[in-house]
Amino acid sequence: MSQTIPNHVPMSQFSVRASQLLIGEKSLDEIAVMLGKDVFYAYDSAVINQKIQQFRQNMPDRIKLHYAIKANPYPPLVGRMVGWVDGFDVASHREMLVALQSGMPASEISFAGPAKQLPELAAAIVAGVTLNIESMTELARVIDLGKELRQLPKVSFRVNPAFELKASGMKMGGGPKQFGIDEEVLLETLGTLDYDTFDLVGFHIFWGSQNLSQEAICHAHANTFGLASKLVAVTPVRVKSINIGGGLGIPYFMGEKRLDLQPIGENLQHLIGHYQELKDVELVIELGRFLVGEAGIYASRITDIKESRGHTFLMTNGGLHHHLSNSGNFGQVIRKNYPVALGNKMDYPLMEQQVSAVGPLCTPLDVLADKMWLPKAEIGDWLVVFQSGAYGPTASPQDFLSHPRVKEILL
Ligand SMILES: Cc1ncc(COP(=O)(O)O)c(C=O)c1O
Repeated sequence: MSQTIPNHVPMSQFSVRASQLLIGEKSLDEIAVMLGKDVFYAYDSAVINQKIQQFRQNMPDRIKLHYAIKANPYPPLVGRMVGWVDGFDVASHREMLVALQSGMPASEISFAGPAKQLPELAAAIVAGVTLNIESMTELARVIDLGKELRQLPKVSFRVNPAFELKASGMKMGGGPKQFGIDEEVLLETLGTLDYDTFDLVGFHIFWGSQNLSQEAICHAHANTFGLASKLVAVTPVRVKSINIGGGLGIPYFMGEKRLDLQPIGENLQHLIGHYQELKDVELVIELGRFLVGEAGIYASRITDIKESRGHTFLMTNGGLHHHLSNSGNFGQVIRKNYPVALGNKMDYPLMEQQVSAVGPLCTPLDVLADKMWLPKAEIGDWLVVFQSGAYGPTASPQDFLSHPRVKEILL
């Protein structure tokens, strides 16, 4: 039996040689030597490229692909994606500076996020980045800043749609939300604005994230096109671009499957044909984890093995301070296991008995794997957590309990 974990999708995106997991053709021992450290995130750029190709092959040519940097803002990774994707979405001033310095043209960068502060707005205006406006107050501020800075701000309206994403996943539209402007408010207001005070780019209709249901995504796209058409109809100037959301998820937990992009692409092709009024508008899909999540692993070294009342604990030098989402504390209701393996024993048989892997933090929350099947572990083995390329180090409380920070590498 190989280390494919029962009921988790196979982690077939990486190769294995002589029982060693390879990230960008390097074993974990080799990566540790390269980094001078034996707890790290490693990202495989070939896997990112494959995901982008898979997206492009299944989507209509009209659909542009933007990368949402928040998923993984590691500058070498962001830099590698220039030329692979059509634009970047940023969520803060710092992410914006990473995006601008990557070489991506400012005209292809958008900045979304509630409660943007004046210096962030000013920086985006001066840089020529499109601001996704989240409230009417923000619009007024942007117009004032534009006058002060003698630059015409580039503006898209982030819309809080009336429809809600069906199925599970993170819902970010529908009902009362802190994100965007309610669609009914926009539909009333768009006819009354002074379009000489800003450069209207278009609309940003973002309804959710981490969705694994083709049907729910197709349904959201149909609603998005319907809403886009209504917004365009009441806008007195040309709408150049509409961001139709993102939301494509990846399988993290047992029983979850990879999305089938084909029906999603076919549905979009149908919608594009149907909504002729949008035929001259650029259409963008904005994705984070779908592009990078499967390309990354988190590796830590097993430094002790302990038995407690019949249960085996693998003690590692990694933990929730590096990987909060794997600990179940980043938006999950109950903790479930990410796929894990021993990265230097990839084709070894699994033990009958389940074991747990934990980190060095003095909290029962510091769990890397809870009652999982692994081969027989020894001190010095590598514990690998897959599906870790998104929302890793920057989504984790690295200074909690003042343990050493984690390293990253793109291969
Ligand atoms: C506006 C916006 N864009 C993109 C994303 C990225 O989501 P994901 O990484 O699930 O694709 C998010 C997630 O919160 C978001 O809020």
